[in-house]
Amino acid sequence: MIVIAVHGGAGNARPVTLKERREGVQKAMEAGWEILTHGGTALDAVEAAVRVMETLPFFNAGMGSVLNGDGIAEMDAGIMDGRNLNVGAVAAVSHIRHPVTLARRVLESEFVLLAGSGAEGFAWEHGFHHVPNRDLVTKQRLETWLENAGFSGKPAGYPWGDTVGAVALDASGSLAAATSTGGLTGKRAGRVGDSPLPGCGFWADNEWGAVSTTGLGETIVRSLLARRAVEGLERGLAPKDAADQALVYLKEKTGGWAGLILMTPNGETVARFNSSSMSYAIMRDDWKAPKFSE
Ligand code: GLY
Repeated sequence: MIVIAVHGGAGNARPVTLKERREGVQKAMEAGWEILTHGGTALDAVEAAVRVMETLPFFNAGMGSVLNGDGIAEMDAGIMDGRNLNVGAVAAVSHIRHPVTLARRVLESEFVLLAGSGAEGFAWEHGFHHVPNRDLVTKQRLETWLENAGFSGKPAGYPWGDTVGAVALDASGSLAAATSTGGLTGKRAGRVGDSPLPGCGFWADNEWGAVSTTGLGETIVRSLLARRAVEGLERGLAPKDAADQALVYLKEKTGGWAGLILMTPNGETVARFNSSSMSYAIMRDDWKAPKFSE
C-alpha cells in the first residue's frame, strides 16, 4: 500500500486563501504521490511534498514565511525516517529556500539539529545557495508586519497558522514525516517552536506511526504532541481517538490549539485539529480520488 497526507497548517485561515490552500495542498500531495507511485521512498515523498509548499506564498514556510519581530523570515524544519528513527532538523535559518531539504541533509549527517548561523554554515558547505532574506518575504507578509509594527517579540495573538507538513507510507512499508514553518507572526528573533523538534512537530516510526503537527508551538512542545499521538496508537487506540486525545491533552494542560495528520503503519490516516481550520489532502492507492479538507 502507498499513502500520502499533507497539511497546510492549522489556524484561522482567512477565507480568501482557502481556495489557494486547497490547490496548494493538492499540488504538494501530487508531488509526493508521483514519487511513491514510482517506487520512491516515503522520506523522498514527504520532502518533495513539503518543498512544494515552501515555494507557495500563502503557506507559512520557505518563501511566504511570516516575519519575526525584527521583520525577518526565520524558519524551522524537521524530517524523520521511520525505518531507523533518523532525524534531521534546522532552526532559525533565514537564507535558505528549502529548509526541509537542509533538514534532510542534516539527517544524512552525524547531527540531528543545527541552528542559526551554524545551520547556514553547514548549508554553504553542502552546496546550498544563499538566498537574500528579502527574496523569501512576500508583499502580504510585509504588509502584515508593517500594520503590526511594534511586535517586539510578542506573537500576534491567534495567528494564521499555515505551518506545512507531510507523512507518507511507501511500497516497502516505511513511514516518514516532515514539517516546515516560518513560526509565529511577530515572534521574538531566535524563538524556535515545535516544528524542528522530534516528538513535537513530527515523528515517524515504522512500528507505530508517523505524524506532522501544526499550531501554537510552545504548547505543542510542552505536550509533546506528535509523540503523544503515536503513544495513543501504541496503547491500542484507533487513529482518530489517538489524535483527539493528544489534542485534548494539549488543550487541557496548556490551553493551546493545534492540528495534526497521523498515519499508521497500515496506512490508516486521520487529520484532526482544534483550531478553526486546517487544510489537508490525503491520497491512498486504494482510493479513486484524494480526500481534502472542507
Ligand atoms: N507550529 C509552528 C510554530 O509554532 O512555530
